[in-house]
Parts: sequence; C-alpha cells; structure tokens
Amino acid sequence: MPGFAFGELNNLPSFADLIDDETAAIFVETIQGESGVNPCTPEFLLGLRRLCDQHNLLLLADEVQCGIGRTGKFYAFEHAGVRPDAIAMAKGLGGGFPIGAIWVAEGAAELFQPGSHGTTFGGTPLACAAALAVLDVIEREKLLAHVSAQGVRWLAELNQVAQAFPQHIAAVRGRGFLVGVQLTADPAPLLADLRERGLLVVPSGNQVLRFLPPLVATAAELDQATVILRAALAAKG
Ligand SMILES: Cc1ncc(COP(=O)(O)O)c(C=O)c1O
Repeated sequence: MPGFAFGELNNLPSFADLIDDETAAIFVETIQGESGVNPCTPEFLLGLRRLCDQHNLLLLADEVQCGIGRTGKFYAFEHAGVRPDAIAMAKGLGGGFPIGAIWVAEGAAELFQPGSHGTTFGGTPLACAAALAVLDVIEREKLLAHVSAQGVRWLAELNQVAQAFPQHIAAVRGRGFLVGVQLTADPAPLLADLRERGLLVVPSGNQVLRFLPPLVATAAELDQATVILRAALAAKG
C-alpha cells in the first residue's frame, strides 16, 4: 500500500521507529478481523495515542469490523479509554444494507472540504435511514449490554472447549461477538463439518475460525454454537 509503513501489532517501539518528518497519521484496526482476530492491547492503543500527541500525528481507527457494538461497546477502542481523531465504520452500521461512514474530530475535520471525499452512492438517504434504524434497535434492545454479558459467558465456554480439545485448539481470542478460535491445523475440513451441522463460521488469518454472530443472537443460540463445535471436534477425535 503506497504511503504506508507497517509496524508490528502490540509492539509500540516498532511504530515509534517508523515516525519521521513525513509521517501524518497512525492507522490501526482495534481488533484485527481478517488477520485472525488479533486484538490491540489497551496499553498499545494508549501508547499509540501518546505517540500521536507527541509527534502531532492523527490517530485513525478502523472500526469497520469491530465497531458498532460488536465487542459490547459501540466502538472497540472504548475498552481502552482511547479517543482517536478519525473513525472508519461500515458493515454492522447498515445491518446488512451497504453503508460506510467516517467520523472526524474537530480540529481535523476541516482537512475535508465539500466534494473532497466523494463516492458514487455516498450519503444516500436510503442507506442513512437503514443505519438510523440499526442505531435505534441497538439502543432500544440494549444490545451493547447484551453483547457484553453474553460475550463474556460465551468466551468462557469456548475456552472450556479449548481446554477439552488442546489437540485441535491452540487459543481463543476476541471480545463480545467477535471471536477467533486458533486451530492447530487447516480449518477447511472443520468448517465444512460445522456447516453440515448447521453452524456457519468463516476462516480468518492463519488457521483461525472466526465467529461473528449477529448482535441479537440469544444465549441459547450461542450455547447451540458451542455444542455444535464440541460435537464436531469430538468427531475428529
Ligand atoms: C476492518 C476492515 N476494514 C476495512 C474493510 C474494507 O471494507 P470495504 O470492503 O468496504 O473496502 C474491511 C473488509 O472486510 C475490514 O474488515
């Protein structure tokens, strides 16, 4: 990606070393979804904020996958108590309807002028109405509290499954309803078996099963997912 230099996740010095006179911003995904559900530690995020303040850089957060309630806070970076200068959002914002949005803090917002950030379908009233309906449901049905409570319980259950099958599971990572189960082998056969048993899971990163239940998933549905995973792992031996 031209113009970007890459530091190592959760390695603050690797970012500090990359900063020079040309550096404008640090861009970070709070919990990396596609690379295998890899969370930034709170210390790392706070450290990035400090680096940005010291060097007069913008801290940009990609909350496209981990935002909009998925981790039990509206934005995943809130768990660390960090405030970025700009936030990218999409996916859950439309509840299935395509929409993307960016929030920019006062002080940086004037970097955008009318027309400087356009897209063909940007700002359509239909997509915005869908997003407003999603925000209403999140608030009305108290989905942040639901995801927080159920996420903690579910992660504990998945960790029990990991303990029961150490030959198949190396680690369980994530928060709320964004969970990665690090396998010890190629996930493809297990994914196919889970699908046969009625559980849809997506692969991610290096041998990781990624669970992304809808925010309205009930305790019983999450339990059913755990039961199916257990049964599929038991069948593997
Ligand atoms: C964290 C994150 N950011 C950005 C994107 C890219 O979004 P788009 O497909 O709209 O370019 C994705 C897509 O999976 C994503 O997971």
